[in-house]
Amino acid sequence: MREIVLHRAGDFAEWRRAARALLASGVAPEDISWRGEDEGASLFGDAAVPAAAGAVSLPRELLEMAERVICYRDAAVPARLYRIVWRAADDRQLLARTTDADIDWLRKADKAIRRDIHKMHAFVRFRRLGEDETGRESFAAWFEPTHQIMRLTAPFFQRRFYGMDWAIVTPDARAIWQDETLTYGPGGTKDEVPDSDVVEDQWRTYYGAIFNPARVKVAAMRAEMPKKYWKNLPEAQDIAPLLAGAGARVERMRETAVSLANPQTGKWRTRVPEELTLTDDIETLDELSRAVGGCTRCPLYCNATQAVTGEGSRAARIMLVGEQPGDREDLEGRPFVGPAGQVLNEALEEAGLDRRSVFLTNAVKHFKFEPRGKRRLHQNPTTGEIDICRWWLDKERALVQPYLIVTLGGSALRGVTGKSASIKSMRGAVHELAGGTKLIATIHPSFLLRLPDRERAAEERAAFIADLTHARQLAA
Ligand code: URA
Repeated sequence: MREIVLHRAGDFAEWRRAARALLASGVAPEDISWRGEDEGASLFGDAAVPAAAGAVSLPRELLEMAERVICYRDAAVPARLYRIVWRAADDRQLLARTTDADIDWLRKADKAIRRDIHKMHAFVRFRRLGEDETGRESFAAWFEPTHQIMRLTAPFFQRRFYGMDWAIVTPDARAIWQDETLTYGPGGTKDEVPDSDVVEDQWRTYYGAIFNPARVKVAAMRAEMPKKYWKNLPEAQDIAPLLAGAGARVERMRETAVSLANPQTGKWRTRVPEELTLTDDIETLDELSRAVGGCTRCPLYCNATQAVTGEGSRAARIMLVGEQPGDREDLEGRPFVGPAGQVLNEALEEAGLDRRSVFLTNAVKHFKFEPRGKRRLHQNPTTGEIDICRWWLDKERALVQPYLIVTLGGSALRGVTGKSASIKSMRGAVHELAGGTKLIATIHPSFLLRLPDRERAAEERAAFIADLTHARQLAA
């Protein structure tokens, strides 16, 4: 019996290194005992992982699932995963065998992990610790995920809170983002993180602002925000009073509601009731995100999951503006993470632009769609919707002050310029907006996904990359 000791629970790299070498050396699952470092003395004596001899190829989907499922809180997981990769090395169809007990377990465990990740993304709440002499602020958060998902979730917080120093402490591990470096350490306890502070109050204000009494579904709220998370959520204490006042607020909203589209013309008037008057008092991108999260200026907020604001550094020289979040963006709360985002990422890379160096946003902040069965089909925003949402885009522009804006598609061009001009008439030249910001107009990446003709798609893609390259050179 060979004994493999894993030093860090949920560390995929460590498990993969061992599994690769064992697979390559042909060590069968039944000849291995997997043990966590803290699981007591070994029965068999330590046996080193064999040196890898050649690589065994495995389906990418399986490796992606293994990377998540290794975080499942169950000591039997490393062994079970190894048995699956061992079987998959001989059976290329293994993953498709849905009645197979291992595969059924794998898929269920993967689903549980994804759900846990989603909850952690949504429910981590930072407390402010202070700021250093340069004014850079630091924050800490305590969170108790169901599984050991610190390493799976840290990159999300790194992207989302790039501009501040933070630590997230969980019982199993901690992630620390300091001086733009992400490191991991051992787990900790709740009392390492201060109990409450201003950030907590902001969360409560924010939650009160986005709480929509007309859409109260208590069962759905419980499912989305299970009680076990409440104790660490500052806003949870407000749920009961908000629910109690919901009826009266719905009445008030009815009286003052923003008018809906006229079904005959598809147009609608904007009437911003006093209660919804927007504040100019926004000084940071985080404040902006919170404010947009409560936006009810047009009816698109009614059906979208959440508002999606821009992402990137305030110091970015280039701002890329798309149309509106799509299905994936609406669920994840980040711009360009779906299929169009994939096309954009590849094009940016080929143009020599690092996605992290630009500021990515959209002309419209809520997903507009038409339900079709279980699917949500994208619908173009109207010029009215784009124009109303310009208020937010202008705020983002004012905060980031990019040297150059690249509009992706017609809606973005409308959003930035406020005018209806064709991309064709604007493309290929550098324009100047009021205030001196440069503008380059190009196509939307989803246009490339819709072109059936391969040759044409390749040409359009090359032209798109050329526009992005031009943008990089101009902003350099
Ligand atoms: N399309 C867009 O215009 N923006 C996104 O964020 C995603 C798809």
